[in-house]
Amino acid sequence: MGFKCVRMWLMLILIFISLQGWRIEGCLKQERSALLQLKHFFNDPYKLQNWFEGNGNSNCCVWESVICNSITGRVISLDLDYTRSQELGEWYLNVSLFSPFRELETLDLRGNLIAGCVENEGFERLSHLTNLVDLELGYNMFNDSHVLSALSQHSSLKNLSLYYNQFRELNHFNASRLSNLELLSLSGNMFNNSILSYVSTLSSLKVLYLGDIGLKGIVDLQELDSLSNLEELYIGGNEIKKIVFSKGETNLRKLTSLRLYGISGGSSLLQTLGLFPSLESLIFNYNNFSGAVTTDELPSFKNLTI
Ligand SMILES: *[C@@H]1O[C@H](CO)[C@@H](O)[C@H](O)[C@H]1NC(C)=O
Repeated sequence: MGFKCVRMWLMLILIFISLQGWRIEGCLKQERSALLQLKHFFNDPYKLQNWFEGNGNSNCCVWESVICNSITGRVISLDLDYTRSQELGEWYLNVSLFSPFRELETLDLRGNLIAGCVENEGFERLSHLTNLVDLELGYNMFNDSHVLSALSQHSSLKNLSLYYNQFRELNHFNASRLSNLELLSLSGNMFNNSILSYVSTLSSLKVLYLGDIGLKGIVDLQELDSLSNLEELYIGGNEIKKIVFSKGETNLRKLTSLRLYGISGGSSLLQTLGLFPSLESLIFNYNNFSGAVTTDELPSFKNLTI
């Protein structure tokens, strides 16, 4: 037994020493070189200026937009929003470039004119990043629904922001694996009312942004009724004439905040709101209500601030 044990300890010590060796500069060598590779694509000349090796600058944990875990020395957050030279126009991202960051928790790629992913190098390449909880892809040019299918495999995600892209359908969005998702923003894409049935299966959702996504006419919030953890719902900026609950009651009992700006429904809308017992914050600026709305028509909320 003794020999085996000693051998195991020796191996552990060796592994430890070699890990220390990689970490001598404060960040892992393979993560540093992955960052330098990323810099070719995230190339705004005014950003990431201290991303270079040499002159005692090899600790990538102190580089701009990078946060490391102080114990493991591994990169846990990358803020690459608005970091691509805009005059280069749309481009396709090789998601494998992020593959070395095994402890990554937060990735912000907003505002980089990304039109999609390089073939076979999409978000499915990050399935081993099981710490990834926060993925921000807003203000890009994504339109391929396969991106959505790859993203919906990421069961670790808690926050997924896809606002102001060019998605048109959620057909490939398979919600069943996103069992930890708490915030989803789809605002500013080009969907229609059918989107409600797709998001309705995301039962862990607390915050849902559906602003400016092409909802029209009569919207039946009954379709969202399975979202029993929902606390905030944003559905402003659509052409909604009327919000109804086809069953006349709702499971959305935790909903505390509802944003309805830019809605043209009449006072019947306000009565529907009486169905939300926890509503604390209701915002409906710029609405074009037909006829006068008196406060009598507002349901009696306990904690309502308008
Ligand atoms: C994508 O990036 C990975 C990692 O750097 C690389 O190995 C691969 O060749 C790249 N794929 C393409 C198609 O450029």
